[in-house]
Amino acid sequence: MNYQELIKNAKEVIGPHCKVCPECNGIACKGRIPGPGGKSTGLGFIRNYSDLKKIWLHMDTIHDKMEICTKKTLFDFEFDLPVFAGPIGAVQMHYSDLYDDMTFSEALLKGCKAAGSIAFTGDGVKDEVYIGTVDATKALGGHGIPTIKPWRKEEVIEKIRLAERANAIAVAMDIDAAGLSILAAQGKPVSPMTVEMLKSIISSTKLPFVIKGIMTVEGARKAVDAGAYAIVVSNHGGRVLDETPSTISVLDDIVEAVKGQIKIIIDGGFRSGIDVFKALAIGADAVIIARPFVTAVFGGGESGVSLYVNKIREELENAMIMTGCESLKDITKSKIKCTL
Ligand SMILES: Cc1cc2nc3c(=O)[nH]c(=O)nc-3n(C[C@H](O)[C@H](O)[C@H](O)COP(=O)(O)O)c2cc1C
Repeated sequence: MNYQELIKNAKEVIGPHCKVCPECNGIACKGRIPGPGGKSTGLGFIRNYSDLKKIWLHMDTIHDKMEICTKKTLFDFEFDLPVFAGPIGAVQMHYSDLYDDMTFSEALLKGCKAAGSIAFTGDGVKDEVYIGTVDATKALGGHGIPTIKPWRKEEVIEKIRLAERANAIAVAMDIDAAGLSILAAQGKPVSPMTVEMLKSIISSTKLPFVIKGIMTVEGARKAVDAGAYAIVVSNHGGRVLDETPSTISVLDDIVEAVKGQIKIIIDGGFRSGIDVFKALAIGADAVIIARPFVTAVFGGGESGVSLYVNKIREELENAMIMTGCESLKDITKSKIKCTL
């Protein structure tokens, strides 16, 4: 199977909401929830994608032959590339019945592990969703990052214990899911949390804790105060609040404020190894990609996921050769032109 075949397969089975567009940019699906769109005007998603296109790469091919290395150590684990699959929950509601959250996560986790990456997995209104995906992580020797919603504290801690028993590499919370009113409508309210609440949750575990959904310097500083290992600069793909800035446009200030105190991951509109290069140049430690991994699962299952990870790695390697970067530490701001 090649990538074109994967796309063709996905189009046939992914369901009515996602059009598997040539560019996954939030335009055809704007406002489509259920579905993969950004909320209301869809601008949060659209800006994520379009702002990344305002950063350009400087070519420099006058250099020695290079042994390109994309390896990255995070959570005390060496990955083949600094790109991970993002959590996607309620797959049947947003896409189609071909996969449920369990079978989807299983394909995602296995495909990512086989290609030297890792997948974050989602949480849902029904406990079986979290339990099932954590079981899939356990079956892979803990190679996954369960992502818990900001439920009440006792429930979060119970779910962390399950992640520990599964030997998960890390555990995450999408704190911005506080904006998912759909969960309250289904009888499971989520809410914002104070630094104190986060501190007591994070100090209850030895697992590296990731807070996903940070969009400001203030938010990043609070995550540092709470003791998190990493943040994900994310607007949840524009799905929790309309009219936010793009994630790439807030990255630089966040890097300036907290680099060295916490690891910085980013997501939102990243679609190629070239996009990944841009965030690394601004100072991110790693990038999460979410929606294109859904296409990969529906179009090719576990091997479709590995194929997609390898495609991104090859694109990143090519960008590195063309800009004269042998390893990730060589990818600096001098390698890009930011016209944002
Ligand atoms: C259908 C759908 C479901 C999602 N479910 C979750 C979830 O359960 N937990 C979470 O943290 N993020 C969830 N997200 C957000 C993604 O993980 C990611 O932050 C966002 O889509 C931006 O990345 P992308 O532009 O590469 O898709 C979901 C996104 C979509 C489109």
